[in-house]
Amino acid sequence: MTAQRPPHAQRPWEDMVLYQVYPRSFSDSDGDGTGDLQGVIDRIGHLELLGVDGVWLGPVMRSPGADHGYDVSDPRDVDPLFGDVDALRRLVAELHHARMVLLMDLVPNHTSVEHPWFAAAVAAGPGSPERERYFFRDGRGPDGAEPPNNWPSVFGGPAWTRVTEPDGRPGQWYLHLFAPEQPDLDWNHPDVGADLERTLRFWLDLGVDGFRIDVAHGLAKPEGLPDLDDDVVPAQLIVDERDVRWDRPDVHEVHRRIRRVLDDHPGTAAFGEVWVGDVDRFSAYLRPDELHFAFHFALTSAPFEAGAVREAIESSLEAARAAGSVPTWALSNHDVVREVTRYGNGVPGRARARAMALVTLALPGIAFVYNGAELGLPSDYSIPHDRLTDPTWDRTGHAEMGRDHCRVPLPWEGDEPPYGFSTTADTWLPMPEGWGRFTVESQLEDPGSTLSLYRAAIEIRQSWTAGAVAGDAGAGAGAADQTSVAWYGAPSDCLAFRRADGVVCALNASDRSVPLPAGEVLLASGPLPTAGPDGDAVLPPDTAVWLRVDV
Ligand code: NOJ
Repeated sequence: MTAQRPPHAQRPWEDMVLYQVYPRSFSDSDGDGTGDLQGVIDRIGHLELLGVDGVWLGPVMRSPGADHGYDVSDPRDVDPLFGDVDALRRLVAELHHARMVLLMDLVPNHTSVEHPWFAAAVAAGPGSPERERYFFRDGRGPDGAEPPNNWPSVFGGPAWTRVTEPDGRPGQWYLHLFAPEQPDLDWNHPDVGADLERTLRFWLDLGVDGFRIDVAHGLAKPEGLPDLDDDVVPAQLIVDERDVRWDRPDVHEVHRRIRRVLDDHPGTAAFGEVWVGDVDRFSAYLRPDELHFAFHFALTSAPFEAGAVREAIESSLEAARAAGSVPTWALSNHDVVREVTRYGNGVPGRARARAMALVTLALPGIAFVYNGAELGLPSDYSIPHDRLTDPTWDRTGHAEMGRDHCRVPLPWEGDEPPYGFSTTADTWLPMPEGWGRFTVESQLEDPGSTLSLYRAAIEIRQSWTAGAVAGDAGAGAGAADQTSVAWYGAPSDCLAFRRADGVVCALNASDRSVPLPAGEVLLASGPLPTAGPDGDAVLPPDTAVWLRVDV
Protein backbone atom coordinates (compact mmCIF):
# COMPACT_ATOMS: atom_id res chain seq x y z
CA MET A 1 0.00 0.00 0.00
CA THR A 2 1.40 3.35 -0.94
CA ALA A 3 1.73 6.23 1.46
CA GLN A 4 -0.56 9.14 2.18
CA ARG A 5 0.54 12.52 0.97
CA PRO A 6 2.76 14.29 3.52
CA PRO A 7 0.99 17.36 4.89
CA HIS A 8 3.70 19.80 3.76
CA ALA A 9 4.28 18.40 0.29
CA GLN A 10 3.40 19.75 -3.13
CA ARG A 11 2.32 16.39 -4.47
CA PRO A 12 1.92 12.73 -3.45
CA TRP A 13 4.98 10.63 -2.72
CA GLU A 14 4.26 8.57 -5.85
CA ASP A 15 5.04 11.49 -8.17
CA MET A 16 7.94 13.14 -6.38
CA VAL A 17 11.38 14.10 -7.59
CA LEU A 18 13.68 13.79 -4.58
CA TYR A 19 17.19 15.16 -4.33
CA GLN A 20 19.86 13.18 -2.51
CA VAL A 21 22.10 15.37 -0.38
CA TYR A 22 25.39 13.79 0.64
CA PRO A 23 25.84 15.98 3.72
CA ARG A 24 29.64 16.15 3.73
CA SER A 25 29.72 17.32 0.15
CA PHE A 26 26.77 19.62 -0.45
CA SER A 27 27.71 22.92 1.18
CA ASP A 28 29.96 23.98 4.06
CA SER A 29 28.68 26.90 6.15
CA ASP A 30 31.34 27.04 8.88
CA GLY A 31 34.57 26.81 6.88
CA ASP A 32 35.84 23.49 8.25
CA GLY A 33 35.96 21.95 4.78
CA THR A 34 33.02 19.58 5.36
CA GLY A 35 29.39 20.20 4.41
CA ASP A 36 26.85 20.69 7.19
CA LEU A 37 23.17 21.23 7.93
CA GLN A 38 23.37 25.01 7.87
CA GLY A 39 24.96 24.62 4.44
CA VAL A 40 21.86 22.76 3.27
CA ILE A 41 19.60 25.43 4.77
CA ASP A 42 21.60 28.14 3.01
CA ARG A 43 21.18 26.40 -0.34
CA ILE A 44 17.48 25.58 -0.22
CA GLY A 45 17.16 28.12 -3.02
CA HIS A 46 19.07 25.72 -5.28
CA LEU A 47 16.52 23.00 -4.55
CA GLU A 48 13.65 25.39 -5.27
CA LEU A 49 15.29 26.42 -8.49
CA LEU A 50 15.64 22.79 -9.51
CA GLY A 51 12.01 22.27 -8.64
CA VAL A 52 12.40 19.12 -6.56
CA ASP A 53 9.88 17.93 -3.98
CA GLY A 54 12.24 17.14 -1.17
CA VAL A 55 15.52 15.84 0.10
CA TRP A 56 16.95 12.49 1.08
CA LEU A 57 19.60 13.51 3.57
CA GLY A 58 22.50 11.07 4.05
CA PRO A 59 23.22 10.10 7.66
CA VAL A 60 23.92 12.97 10.06
CA MET A 61 23.56 11.11 13.33
CA ARG A 62 26.41 11.10 15.82
CA SER A 63 29.20 9.02 14.34
CA PRO A 64 32.99 8.72 14.42
CA GLY A 65 32.76 8.69 10.63
CA ALA A 66 34.56 5.45 9.73
CA ASP A 67 31.96 5.03 6.96
CA HIS A 68 30.90 8.69 6.91
CA GLY A 69 27.85 8.43 9.12
CA TYR A 70 26.87 4.85 8.35
CA ASP A 71 28.59 3.95 11.64
CA VAL A 72 26.28 5.48 14.23
CA SER A 73 27.31 5.93 17.85
CA ASP A 74 24.13 7.76 18.94
CA PRO A 75 21.11 7.40 16.64
CA ARG A 76 19.16 10.14 18.41
CA ASP A 77 21.64 12.96 18.13
CA VAL A 78 23.21 14.97 15.30
CA ASP A 79 26.97 14.78 14.86
CA PRO A 80 28.68 18.07 15.73
CA LEU A 81 30.39 17.90 12.33
CA PHE A 82 27.00 18.68 10.79
CA GLY A 83 25.47 20.87 13.52
CA ASP A 84 22.99 19.84 16.17
CA VAL A 85 19.43 18.62 16.58
CA ASP A 86 18.23 22.18 16.47
CA ALA A 87 19.85 22.72 13.07
CA LEU A 88 18.02 19.66 11.79
CA ARG A 89 14.77 21.01 13.22
CA ARG A 90 15.40 24.28 11.38
CA LEU A 91 16.13 22.43 8.15
CA VAL A 92 12.86 20.52 8.44
CA ALA A 93 10.97 23.75 9.10
CA GLU A 94 12.60 25.55 6.15
CA LEU A 95 11.96 22.65 3.80
CA HIS A 96 8.36 22.40 4.90
CA HIS A 97 7.98 26.12 4.42
CA ALA A 98 9.15 25.61 0.84
CA ARG A 99 6.71 22.67 0.57
CA MET A 100 9.45 20.09 0.43
CA VAL A 101 9.84 16.92 2.46
CA LEU A 102 12.82 15.47 4.29
CA LEU A 103 13.82 11.80 4.31
CA MET A 104 16.43 10.83 6.88
CA ASP A 105 18.86 7.97 6.50
CA LEU A 106 18.39 5.27 9.12
CA VAL A 107 21.05 2.62 9.83
CA PRO A 108 19.43 -0.34 11.62
CA ASN A 109 21.81 -3.12 10.54
CA HIS A 110 24.83 -2.08 12.55
CA THR A 111 26.16 0.46 15.00
CA SER A 112 29.54 2.11 15.40
CA VAL A 113 32.16 0.46 17.58
CA GLU A 114 31.80 3.64 19.62
CA HIS A 115 28.14 2.95 20.42
CA PRO A 116 27.81 2.39 24.19
CA TRP A 117 26.29 -1.06 23.56
CA PHE A 118 29.39 -2.22 21.74
CA ALA A 119 31.80 -0.80 24.30
CA ALA A 120 29.77 -2.57 27.02
CA ALA A 121 29.80 -5.83 25.04
CA VAL A 122 33.58 -5.82 24.67
CA ALA A 123 34.05 -4.94 28.33
CA ALA A 124 31.59 -7.54 29.63
CA GLY A 125 33.37 -10.52 28.09
CA PRO A 126 32.26 -13.82 26.51
CA GLY A 127 28.86 -15.21 27.41
CA SER A 128 27.60 -11.90 28.81
CA PRO A 129 24.13 -10.59 27.99
CA GLU A 130 25.80 -7.45 26.61
CA ARG A 131 27.36 -9.51 23.80
CA GLU A 132 23.97 -10.83 22.74
CA ARG A 133 23.00 -7.60 21.01
CA TYR A 134 25.72 -8.32 18.43
CA PHE A 135 27.19 -11.47 16.88
CA PHE A 136 30.09 -12.46 19.09
CA ARG A 137 31.33 -15.98 18.40
CA ASP A 138 34.33 -18.11 19.27
CA GLY A 139 36.82 -18.52 16.46
CA ARG A 140 37.62 -21.75 14.66
CA GLY A 141 40.91 -23.63 14.49
CA PRO A 142 43.54 -23.99 17.16
CA ASP A 143 43.10 -21.29 19.83
CA GLY A 144 40.12 -19.91 17.97
CA ALA A 145 42.46 -17.96 15.72
CA GLU A 146 40.32 -18.38 12.58
CA PRO A 147 37.11 -16.40 11.91
CA PRO A 148 33.90 -18.25 12.88
CA ASN A 149 32.81 -18.58 9.24
CA ASN A 150 33.99 -17.70 5.74
CA TRP A 151 31.86 -14.61 5.15
CA PRO A 152 33.60 -11.71 3.40
CA SER A 153 32.98 -8.07 4.29
CA VAL A 154 31.41 -5.90 1.58
CA PHE A 155 34.44 -3.62 1.86
CA GLY A 156 36.98 -6.44 1.47
CA GLY A 157 38.64 -8.88 3.87
CA PRO A 158 36.77 -11.11 6.33
CA ALA A 159 33.48 -10.06 7.92
CA TRP A 160 34.90 -10.84 11.38
CA THR A 161 37.29 -9.07 13.72
CA ARG A 162 38.77 -10.55 16.89
CA VAL A 163 38.59 -8.63 20.15
CA THR A 164 40.99 -8.54 23.02
CA GLU A 165 39.18 -9.76 26.11
CA PRO A 166 39.13 -7.77 29.36
CA ASP A 167 41.85 -10.06 30.70
CA GLY A 168 44.15 -9.05 27.83
CA ARG A 169 43.95 -12.33 25.89
CA PRO A 170 42.88 -12.64 22.23
CA GLY A 171 39.23 -13.52 22.44
CA GLN A 172 35.98 -13.81 20.51
CA TRP A 173 35.20 -12.49 17.07
CA TYR A 174 32.36 -10.15 16.11
CA LEU A 175 30.52 -9.97 12.81
CA HIS A 176 30.64 -6.91 10.56
CA LEU A 177 29.26 -7.25 7.05
CA PHE A 178 30.78 -3.84 6.35
CA ALA A 179 33.81 -2.22 8.04
CA PRO A 180 35.20 -3.50 11.38
CA GLU A 181 33.95 -0.21 12.85
CA GLN A 182 30.37 -1.30 11.96
CA PRO A 183 29.44 -4.33 14.11
CA ASP A 184 26.19 -6.01 12.98
CA LEU A 185 23.30 -5.97 15.43
CA ASP A 186 21.43 -9.16 16.25
CA TRP A 187 17.82 -8.37 15.44
CA ASN A 188 16.66 -11.34 17.53
CA HIS A 189 17.55 -9.34 20.63
CA PRO A 190 14.55 -7.41 21.97
CA ASP A 191 16.60 -4.28 22.77
CA VAL A 192 17.49 -3.80 19.11
CA GLY A 193 13.95 -3.36 17.79
CA ALA A 194 12.83 -1.41 20.85
CA ASP A 195 15.69 1.04 20.39
CA LEU A 196 14.97 1.47 16.70
CA GLU A 197 11.36 2.34 17.55
CA ARG A 198 12.58 5.03 19.93
CA THR A 199 14.83 6.37 17.17
CA LEU A 200 12.01 6.44 14.65
CA ARG A 201 9.69 8.28 17.03
CA PHE A 202 12.43 10.72 18.00
CA TRP A 203 12.89 11.93 14.41
CA LEU A 204 9.22 11.68 13.51
CA ASP A 205 8.34 13.88 16.49
CA LEU A 206 10.88 16.36 15.19
CA GLY A 207 8.93 16.50 11.93
CA VAL A 208 10.81 14.40 9.39
CA ASP A 209 8.63 12.95 6.65
CA GLY A 210 10.23 9.57 6.24
CA PHE A 211 13.30 7.40 6.18
CA ARG A 212 15.67 5.75 3.77
CA ILE A 213 16.51 2.44 5.39
CA ASP A 214 20.10 1.32 4.99
CA VAL A 215 20.77 -2.35 4.17
CA ALA A 216 17.04 -3.13 4.39
CA HIS A 217 17.61 -6.61 2.99
CA GLY A 218 20.37 -7.54 5.43
CA LEU A 219 18.84 -7.11 8.86
CA ALA A 220 18.22 -10.81 9.58
CA LYS A 221 21.02 -13.35 9.66
CA PRO A 222 20.60 -17.09 9.06
CA GLU A 223 20.41 -19.40 12.05
CA GLY A 224 23.86 -20.75 12.93
CA LEU A 225 25.66 -18.35 10.55
CA PRO A 226 26.58 -21.11 8.07
CA ASP A 227 29.52 -20.82 5.67
CA LEU A 228 28.87 -19.58 2.15
CA ASP A 229 29.29 -22.29 -0.48
CA ASP A 230 32.66 -21.92 -2.17
CA ASP A 231 31.15 -21.14 -5.54
CA VAL A 232 28.92 -18.30 -4.34
CA VAL A 233 30.24 -15.06 -5.73
CA PRO A 234 29.32 -12.32 -3.26
CA ALA A 235 27.95 -9.35 -5.19
CA GLN A 236 26.35 -6.09 -4.20
CA LEU A 237 23.15 -6.76 -6.17
CA ILE A 238 22.06 -10.10 -4.74
CA VAL A 239 21.43 -12.41 -7.63
CA ASP A 240 22.53 -15.67 -6.03
CA GLU A 241 19.96 -16.95 -3.55
CA ARG A 242 22.63 -19.07 -1.95
CA ASP A 243 24.30 -15.95 -0.56
CA VAL A 244 22.74 -16.60 2.82
CA ARG A 245 23.85 -13.31 4.33
CA TRP A 246 21.03 -11.36 2.74
CA ASP A 247 17.29 -11.44 2.17
CA ARG A 248 16.36 -13.83 4.98
CA PRO A 249 12.66 -14.45 5.64
CA ASP A 250 12.87 -12.89 9.13
CA VAL A 251 13.85 -9.53 7.69
CA HIS A 252 10.22 -8.89 6.84
CA GLU A 253 9.23 -8.87 10.50
CA VAL A 254 11.60 -5.93 11.01
CA HIS A 255 9.93 -4.00 8.23
CA ARG A 256 6.49 -4.71 9.65
CA ARG A 257 7.69 -3.31 12.93
CA ILE A 258 9.01 -0.14 11.30
CA ARG A 259 5.75 0.19 9.38
CA ARG A 260 3.63 0.03 12.53
CA VAL A 261 5.48 3.06 13.90
CA LEU A 262 5.15 4.99 10.65
CA ASP A 263 1.45 4.20 10.49
CA ASP A 264 1.05 6.27 13.66
CA HIS A 265 2.32 9.25 11.62
CA PRO A 266 0.10 9.55 8.54
CA GLY A 267 1.87 10.92 5.48
CA THR A 268 5.27 9.46 6.37
CA ALA A 269 7.04 6.82 4.27
CA ALA A 270 9.88 4.31 4.41
CA PHE A 271 12.17 3.71 1.43
CA GLY A 272 14.34 0.61 1.65
CA GLU A 273 17.77 -0.02 0.22
CA VAL A 274 16.98 -3.44 -1.21
CA TRP A 275 19.76 -4.97 -3.31
CA VAL A 276 17.72 -8.00 -4.36
CA GLY A 277 17.59 -8.91 -8.04
CA ASP A 278 14.69 -11.38 -8.12
CA VAL A 279 11.43 -9.56 -8.84
CA ASP A 280 9.23 -11.58 -6.46
CA ARG A 281 11.68 -11.43 -3.61
CA PHE A 282 12.19 -7.71 -4.16
CA SER A 283 8.48 -6.99 -4.21
CA ALA A 284 7.97 -8.94 -0.97
CA TYR A 285 9.51 -5.92 0.81
CA LEU A 286 6.67 -3.78 -0.51
CA ARG A 287 3.77 -5.75 0.93
CA PRO A 288 1.04 -3.57 2.41
CA ASP A 289 2.41 -3.78 5.95
CA GLU A 290 6.11 -3.35 5.07
CA LEU A 291 8.12 -0.69 3.23
CA HIS A 292 6.23 1.90 1.21
CA PHE A 293 8.91 2.08 -1.47
CA ALA A 294 12.21 0.43 -2.29
CA PHE A 295 15.21 1.48 -4.29
CA HIS A 296 15.63 -0.64 -7.36
CA PHE A 297 19.17 -0.30 -8.60
CA ALA A 298 18.93 -1.71 -12.10
CA LEU A 299 19.55 1.66 -13.80
CA THR A 300 22.68 2.37 -11.77
CA SER A 301 24.38 -0.59 -13.38
CA ALA A 302 22.78 -0.84 -16.82
CA PRO A 303 25.18 0.06 -19.64
CA PHE A 304 24.16 2.74 -22.15
CA GLU A 305 22.48 0.29 -24.52
CA ALA A 306 18.81 0.43 -25.42
CA GLY A 307 18.22 -3.25 -24.62
CA ALA A 308 19.87 -3.08 -21.22
CA VAL A 309 18.09 0.16 -20.31
CA ARG A 310 14.73 -1.24 -21.35
CA GLU A 311 15.33 -4.42 -19.37
CA ALA A 312 16.27 -2.40 -16.27
CA ILE A 313 13.12 -0.30 -16.63
CA GLU A 314 10.87 -3.31 -17.15
CA SER A 315 12.23 -5.14 -14.14
CA SER A 316 11.62 -2.11 -11.90
CA LEU A 317 8.11 -1.63 -13.25
CA GLU A 318 7.35 -5.30 -12.83
CA ALA A 319 8.57 -5.36 -9.24
CA ALA A 320 6.47 -2.34 -8.32
CA ARG A 321 3.43 -3.72 -10.13
CA ALA A 322 3.74 -7.08 -8.38
CA ALA A 323 3.69 -5.27 -5.06
CA GLY A 324 1.01 -2.68 -5.80
CA SER A 325 3.61 0.02 -5.14
CA VAL A 326 5.27 2.47 -7.52
CA PRO A 327 8.82 2.28 -8.85
CA THR A 328 11.71 4.47 -7.78
CA TRP A 329 14.41 5.54 -10.23
CA ALA A 330 18.00 6.65 -9.75
CA LEU A 331 20.91 6.90 -12.14
CA SER A 332 23.42 7.22 -9.32
CA ASN A 333 23.98 7.66 -5.62
CA HIS A 334 26.89 7.97 -3.19
CA ASP A 335 27.91 4.33 -3.70
CA VAL A 336 28.28 4.07 -7.48
CA VAL A 337 30.29 5.62 -10.30
CA ARG A 338 28.68 8.84 -11.50
CA GLU A 339 26.69 8.36 -14.69
CA VAL A 340 28.80 10.74 -16.80
CA THR A 341 31.82 8.56 -16.09
CA ARG A 342 29.95 5.27 -16.36
CA TYR A 343 28.78 6.21 -19.82
CA GLY A 344 32.24 7.06 -21.07
CA ASN A 345 33.24 10.46 -19.64
CA GLY A 346 33.99 13.54 -21.75
CA VAL A 347 31.55 14.71 -24.40
CA PRO A 348 29.81 11.36 -25.03
CA GLY A 349 29.56 10.55 -21.32
CA ARG A 350 27.91 13.88 -20.61
CA ALA A 351 25.54 13.63 -23.59
CA ARG A 352 24.49 10.12 -22.54
CA ALA A 353 23.97 11.16 -18.92
CA ARG A 354 21.75 14.02 -20.13
CA ALA A 355 19.80 11.62 -22.32
CA MET A 356 19.36 9.17 -19.45
CA ALA A 357 18.20 12.02 -17.20
CA LEU A 358 15.29 12.55 -19.60
CA VAL A 359 14.57 8.81 -19.68
CA THR A 360 14.54 8.61 -15.89
CA LEU A 361 12.44 11.71 -15.36
CA ALA A 362 9.87 10.52 -17.91
CA LEU A 363 9.23 7.26 -16.09
CA PRO A 364 6.21 6.94 -13.81
CA GLY A 365 7.04 6.81 -10.11
CA ILE A 366 9.58 8.50 -7.86
CA ALA A 367 12.80 9.92 -9.31
CA PHE A 368 15.94 10.52 -7.27
CA VAL A 369 18.65 12.95 -8.35
CA TYR A 370 22.02 12.52 -6.63
CA ASN A 371 23.62 15.86 -5.78
CA GLY A 372 25.93 16.92 -8.57
CA ALA A 373 24.14 14.90 -11.25
CA GLU A 374 22.27 18.08 -12.17
CA LEU A 375 25.67 19.69 -12.83
CA GLY A 376 26.91 16.80 -14.98
CA LEU A 377 29.72 16.07 -12.53
CA PRO A 378 31.99 13.16 -13.39
CA SER A 379 33.47 10.79 -10.83
CA ASP A 380 36.87 12.16 -9.84
CA TYR A 381 39.65 9.59 -9.99
CA SER A 382 42.37 12.19 -9.51
CA ILE A 383 42.10 12.22 -5.71
CA PRO A 384 45.61 11.62 -4.34
CA HIS A 385 45.82 8.20 -2.71
CA ASP A 386 46.84 9.62 0.63
CA ARG A 387 43.57 11.58 0.72
CA LEU A 388 41.25 8.62 0.16
CA THR A 389 38.84 7.95 3.00
CA ASP A 390 36.57 5.08 1.95
CA PRO A 391 37.26 1.98 4.09
CA THR A 392 37.31 -0.06 0.87
CA TRP A 393 40.70 1.43 -0.06
CA ASP A 394 42.50 0.00 2.96
CA ARG A 395 40.37 -3.14 3.29
CA THR A 396 41.27 -4.25 -0.24
CA GLY A 397 44.97 -3.56 0.25
CA HIS A 398 44.64 -0.56 -2.08
CA ALA A 399 43.29 -2.73 -4.90
CA GLU A 400 39.97 -0.84 -5.00
CA MET A 401 39.72 2.89 -4.62
CA GLY A 402 36.25 2.79 -3.08
CA ARG A 403 33.61 5.47 -3.48
CA ASP A 404 35.32 8.77 -2.76
CA HIS A 405 35.33 9.56 -6.49
CA CYS A 406 31.56 10.18 -6.45
CA ARG A 407 31.55 12.12 -3.17
CA VAL A 408 33.77 15.10 -4.02
CA PRO A 409 32.18 18.37 -2.79
CA LEU A 410 29.89 20.28 -5.14
CA PRO A 411 31.24 23.29 -7.07
CA TRP A 412 29.00 26.33 -6.65
CA GLU A 413 30.90 29.30 -8.11
CA GLY A 414 34.28 30.64 -9.22
CA ASP A 415 37.19 29.05 -11.05
CA GLU A 416 39.32 27.61 -8.29
CA PRO A 417 38.81 25.08 -5.53
CA PRO A 418 36.78 25.23 -3.29
CA TYR A 419 34.41 26.80 -5.86
CA GLY A 420 32.20 28.39 -3.20
CA PHE A 421 31.60 25.07 -1.45
CA SER A 422 33.54 26.29 1.59
CA THR A 423 35.77 29.15 2.65
CA THR A 424 38.75 26.85 2.88
CA ALA A 425 40.40 25.11 -0.07
CA ASP A 426 41.31 22.33 2.36
CA THR A 427 38.06 20.47 1.77
CA TRP A 428 37.49 16.98 3.24
CA LEU A 429 38.14 15.52 -0.19
CA PRO A 430 40.23 17.74 -2.46
CA MET A 431 38.33 19.37 -5.31
CA PRO A 432 40.02 19.09 -8.71
CA GLU A 433 41.22 21.93 -10.90
CA GLY A 434 39.04 22.62 -13.90
CA TRP A 435 35.65 22.27 -12.22
CA GLY A 436 34.86 25.95 -12.87
CA ARG A 437 32.87 24.78 -15.88
CA PHE A 438 30.62 22.66 -13.67
CA THR A 439 29.67 25.31 -11.11
CA VAL A 440 26.07 26.27 -10.53
CA GLU A 441 27.06 29.86 -11.28
CA SER A 442 28.47 29.01 -14.71
CA GLN A 443 25.48 26.85 -15.68
CA LEU A 444 22.63 28.90 -14.33
CA GLU A 445 22.18 31.30 -17.22
CA ASP A 446 23.41 28.93 -19.91
CA PRO A 447 20.40 27.40 -21.67
CA GLY A 448 22.56 24.55 -22.98
CA SER A 449 23.87 23.53 -19.57
CA THR A 450 23.03 20.30 -17.78
CA LEU A 451 21.59 22.34 -14.91
CA SER A 452 19.22 24.11 -17.34
CA LEU A 453 18.22 20.73 -18.80
CA TYR A 454 17.39 19.35 -15.35
CA ARG A 455 15.44 22.48 -14.44
CA ALA A 456 13.42 22.34 -17.64
CA ALA A 457 12.82 18.61 -17.37
CA ILE A 458 11.66 18.77 -13.76
CA GLU A 459 9.43 21.75 -14.48
CA ILE A 460 7.75 19.96 -17.38
CA ARG A 461 7.45 16.73 -15.41
CA GLN A 462 5.89 18.56 -12.49
CA SER A 463 3.26 20.00 -14.84
CA TRP A 464 2.20 16.42 -15.72
CA THR A 465 1.42 15.76 -12.09
CA ALA A 466 -0.22 19.13 -11.49
CA GLY A 467 -3.57 17.37 -11.15
CA ALA A 468 -2.22 15.49 -8.20
CA VAL A 469 -1.05 18.78 -6.69
CA ALA A 470 -4.51 20.23 -6.90
CA GLY A 471 -6.08 17.14 -5.33
CA ASP A 472 -6.82 16.69 -1.66
CA ALA A 473 -4.14 15.77 0.83
CA GLY A 474 -5.34 12.21 1.13
CA ALA A 475 -3.99 9.14 -0.58
CA GLY A 476 -1.61 9.47 -3.50
CA ALA A 477 -2.31 9.19 -7.19
CA GLY A 478 -2.72 5.44 -6.85
CA ALA A 479 -0.47 2.76 -8.18
CA ALA A 480 -2.61 1.59 -11.10
CA ASP A 481 -1.24 3.92 -13.77
CA GLN A 482 2.19 4.24 -12.20
CA THR A 483 3.66 0.89 -13.06
CA SER A 484 3.50 0.63 -16.80
CA VAL A 485 4.55 2.38 -19.97
CA ALA A 486 3.67 1.46 -23.56
CA TRP A 487 6.73 0.47 -25.57
CA TYR A 488 6.95 1.55 -29.20
CA GLY A 489 8.87 -0.23 -31.88
CA ALA A 490 12.19 1.58 -32.38
CA PRO A 491 15.26 1.30 -34.62
CA SER A 492 18.02 -0.93 -33.32
CA ASP A 493 19.69 0.34 -30.14
CA CYS A 494 16.94 2.91 -29.67
CA LEU A 495 13.92 2.81 -27.40
CA ALA A 496 10.65 4.70 -27.15
CA PHE A 497 7.90 4.50 -24.58
CA ARG A 498 4.66 6.36 -23.98
CA ARG A 499 3.38 7.42 -20.61
CA ALA A 500 -0.29 7.07 -19.79
CA ASP A 501 -0.74 10.84 -20.35
CA GLY A 502 0.49 10.61 -23.95
CA VAL A 503 4.05 11.89 -23.53
CA VAL A 504 6.58 9.87 -25.47
CA CYS A 505 10.23 9.54 -24.51
CA ALA A 506 12.62 8.34 -27.22
CA LEU A 507 16.29 7.49 -26.71
CA ASN A 508 18.92 6.94 -29.36
CA ALA A 509 21.73 4.87 -27.83
CA SER A 510 23.12 3.86 -31.23
CA ASP A 511 25.96 5.49 -33.14
CA ARG A 512 23.89 6.92 -36.02
CA SER A 513 21.05 9.40 -36.33
CA VAL A 514 17.53 8.03 -36.62
CA PRO A 515 14.32 9.74 -37.74
CA LEU A 516 12.73 11.82 -35.01
CA PRO A 517 9.40 10.24 -34.00
CA ALA A 518 6.29 12.30 -34.75
CA GLY A 519 4.91 14.66 -32.14
CA GLU A 520 5.42 18.06 -30.56
CA VAL A 521 8.92 18.30 -29.09
CA LEU A 522 8.72 19.24 -25.42
CA LEU A 523 12.38 18.88 -24.57
CA ALA A 524 15.53 17.32 -25.99
CA SER A 525 18.75 16.43 -24.22
CA GLY A 526 20.81 17.83 -27.12
CA PRO A 527 20.42 19.52 -30.51
CA LEU A 528 17.92 17.98 -32.97
CA PRO A 529 19.40 18.79 -36.38
CA THR A 530 17.74 18.23 -39.71
CA ALA A 531 19.20 15.91 -42.31
CA GLY A 532 18.49 14.29 -45.66
CA PRO A 533 17.03 15.76 -48.85
CA ASP A 534 13.72 16.67 -47.17
CA GLY A 535 15.37 18.34 -44.23
CA ASP A 536 13.59 16.09 -41.76
CA ALA A 537 14.54 16.39 -38.10
CA VAL A 538 16.60 13.54 -36.71
CA LEU A 539 17.37 12.18 -33.26
CA PRO A 540 21.18 12.07 -33.13
CA PRO A 541 23.21 9.46 -31.22
CA ASP A 542 23.39 9.82 -27.41
CA THR A 543 20.24 11.94 -27.33
CA ALA A 544 16.76 11.61 -25.84
CA VAL A 545 13.65 13.61 -26.55
CA TRP A 546 10.23 14.13 -24.99
CA LEU A 547 7.34 14.47 -27.43
CA ARG A 548 3.66 15.10 -26.91
CA VAL A 549 1.63 12.75 -29.05
CA ASP A 550 -2.13 12.86 -29.38
CA VAL A 551 -3.67 9.66 -28.09
C1 NOJ B 1 24.71 1.31 2.12
C2 NOJ B 1 25.13 2.74 2.08
O1 NOJ B 1 24.55 3.37 0.97
C3 NOJ B 1 26.64 2.74 2.02
O2 NOJ B 1 27.16 4.01 1.76
C4 NOJ B 1 27.15 2.18 3.31
O3 NOJ B 1 28.56 2.09 3.26
C5 NOJ B 1 26.59 0.80 3.59
N1 NOJ B 1 25.18 0.72 3.34
C6 NOJ B 1 26.83 0.37 5.02
O4 NOJ B 1 26.05 1.10 5.91
